[in-house]
Amino acid sequence: MSGLVLGIETSCDETGVGLVRIDGNGRVTLLANEIASSVDEHARFGGVVPEVASRAHLQAMVPTVRRAMATAGVRPRDIDAVAVTAGPGLAGALLVGVAAAKAYAAAWDVPLYGVNHLTAHVAVDTVQHGPLPPALALLVSGGHSNLLDVPDLAGRITSIGATIDDAAGEAFDKVARLLGLPFPGGPHIDRMARDGDNAAIAFPRGLTGPRDAPFDFSFSGLKTAVARYVEALERVGRPIPVADVAASFQEAVVDVLTAKAVRAARERGMDTLLLGGGVAANSRLRALAQERCAAAGLALRVPRPALCTDNGAMVAALGAHLLAAGAKPSDLDLPCECVTA
Ligand code: KG4
Ligand code: ZN
Repeated sequence: MSGLVLGIETSCDETGVGLVRIDGNGRVTLLANEIASSVDEHARFGGVVPEVASRAHLQAMVPTVRRAMATAGVRPRDIDAVAVTAGPGLAGALLVGVAAAKAYAAAWDVPLYGVNHLTAHVAVDTVQHGPLPPALALLVSGGHSNLLDVPDLAGRITSIGATIDDAAGEAFDKVARLLGLPFPGGPHIDRMARDGDNAAIAFPRGLTGPRDAPFDFSFSGLKTAVARYVEALERVGRPIPVADVAASFQEAVVDVLTAKAVRAARERGMDTLLLGGGVAANSRLRALAQERCAAAGLALRVPRPALCTDNGAMVAALGAHLLAAGAKPSDLDLPCECVTA
């Protein structure tokens, strides 16, 4: 089935609203992808403050929906379904998006699809690269680091590995803070690292021992190693080689992520590796994944950076695939799958 789907994303600090159209061949066209972010309000706290994020969503919600519809030149009666992130995410933040989505679905008398945020990060790739074959997805964001087995976007997706402590993005943000870089730190480390030597400091590669879980991740030991390195220099009054620390830390993260993702894809018999989530915007992760996929004979799919970080198009895209697959819509008493900060 073809159709026009509105997607709403409010799991963290971005109010994202996307509009996509899916045709009878499962091809998705992006019509609008509007974002209102409260990131500047959180910067001085060094992390997302849930209450501040929820209030910002409440203010931005309807104006952002209106902007998306105006950009796409779409009227309410054109819309065939509403999709919304139902979790995982911050409780109060999700509630705003889910309540708004229910209201739009009820008012427009169209089906509602409550979707999983991680699957939406995977689904957004279809907006750029077309229908997705069975794939192994490396999903790396501020809240998650997962290896997902994705046979089909509308089918059963299984997590075959995850972080046992910090998420990759969280590690980037914490190390950036140690280095005095602004929040969110991932893009700043990415930029600083370009001027550094990624082999300057031998930081540890977490969970890569022969007896460690093959597809799980751990980044808290790496973060502690960076903290120790910085403290040791500070104690003796020596300058911190910020670019080298950024590059060496980044290399330790992306080395483990890409090695495990490629191994997982091969072991699961997948021909395609997909990267998604905010950390997939990282330039070194993208380059090393490209190199290792080429060596392993895997096709690599990575959405453009603006589609990797949280946005509404990813939710609309997943909703569109569910609509096209004839999936059962959610009930209007849909709850949220919330996680605390
Ligand atoms: O997917 P996302 O926008 O939100 C969550 O679902 O968490 O991911 C945000 C995370 C932040 O930790 C941010 O620092 C990280 O993605 N990030 C990056 C880059 N751009 C965003 N990390 C490394 N390099 C980047 N270029
Ligand atoms: Zn996300």
